[in-house]
Amino acid sequence: MEEKIEALKQQAREAVASAAKNLSELDDVRVKFLGKKGEFTAILRGLGAVAKEERPKIGAIVNAAKAEVEALIQQKNEELKARAMADRLESEKIDVTLPGRRATAGHLHPLTQTLDRIKDIFFRMGFSVEEGPEIEKDYYNFEALNLPKDHPARDMQDSFYITEDILMRSQTSPVQARTMEKNPPNAPIRMIAPGRVYRRDEYDATHSPMFTQVEGLVIDEGISFADLKGTLELFLQQMFGEEVGVRFRPSFFPFTEPSAEVDISCVMCHGKGCRVCKGTGWLEILGSGMVHPNVLRMSGYDPKKVSGFAFGMGVERIAMLSYGIDDLRLFYDNDMRFLRQF
Ligand code: FA5
Ligand code: MG
Repeated sequence: MEEKIEALKQQAREAVASAAKNLSELDDVRVKFLGKKGEFTAILRGLGAVAKEERPKIGAIVNAAKAEVEALIQQKNEELKARAMADRLESEKIDVTLPGRRATAGHLHPLTQTLDRIKDIFFRMGFSVEEGPEIEKDYYNFEALNLPKDHPARDMQDSFYITEDILMRSQTSPVQARTMEKNPPNAPIRMIAPGRVYRRDEYDATHSPMFTQVEGLVIDEGISFADLKGTLELFLQQMFGEEVGVRFRPSFFPFTEPSAEVDISCVMCHGKGCRVCKGTGWLEILGSGMVHPNVLRMSGYDPKKVSGFAFGMGVERIAMLSYGIDDLRLFYDNDMRFLRQF
């Protein structure tokens, strides 16, 4: 009996030493020798067959052997755990000397920056900001601007209709009528109205079917074309520098009379002629004029008492000229190589 126990102990020792290469194999060894149906338990169960006087002695030997094997397994268990941890540390090693990943801070889009500069200049001249909806009533986009239903000038801004009477606004000019309407009759106005507008238009180096305008409206007693000219010239000089060439060209808008379109000298080619200015040396950036008496009247203002001027400028064109960009589409491409430069 004693030899059998000794042999079993030896077997267990070898199993722990060589067979158990990981924790689960070690557990198999534990079950085989020490488990409820294990080898040592079997011997203890079999003690009934041993002579009575021998039992305590054999029992003690079995328990001592069990304790020895238990200790071996415990020791091996710790070894295996330590090795597993060491392996993990090795495989998950990180190089703390590598440079970190910098969190990149974004910045305002060049069009927004341009809009902010435009607003700043007008704020300094005492203008306030008005807003109007992008989905607009035909009445405000056209009719209140002296463009009745069948007026041929509507074609110039052939637009995106939602219903017969509702469309994507083709200009920021509807904010003129909206502002006059909400004011008491003949109250002075000095406002700008920035926002997006939509037209069935080309998508090329200087046009987009969706673009940004800034409307302006000044109404008071005795406002003249000289005020229009002075205000816009001052604005353009602050925006592009004192030396910029400014040209007022007679034009037509149904809601202003007289009307003028304003060009500035092409900053890309300095007047020589290029792709951006289509060879003319000038680039149109805004439309303007003295508010038509019909427009004043329709919105509750009296053309005998007050007069005013209005203008509408293209923000993309202004941004192109102030940054020297030769293609408007770059603003909408969202190419980081372009945007990062501002
Ligand atoms: C107008 O939209 C008039 N509402 C401007 C106005 C306001 C006149 C108040 C009188 C009084 P026009 O269609 O010319 O005018 O457009 C004004 C400016 O918007 C142009 O000078 C140009 O800078 C810009 N623009 C026009 N079409 C486009 C387009 N498709 N893409 C980019 N910019 C454009
Ligand atoms: Mg025009």
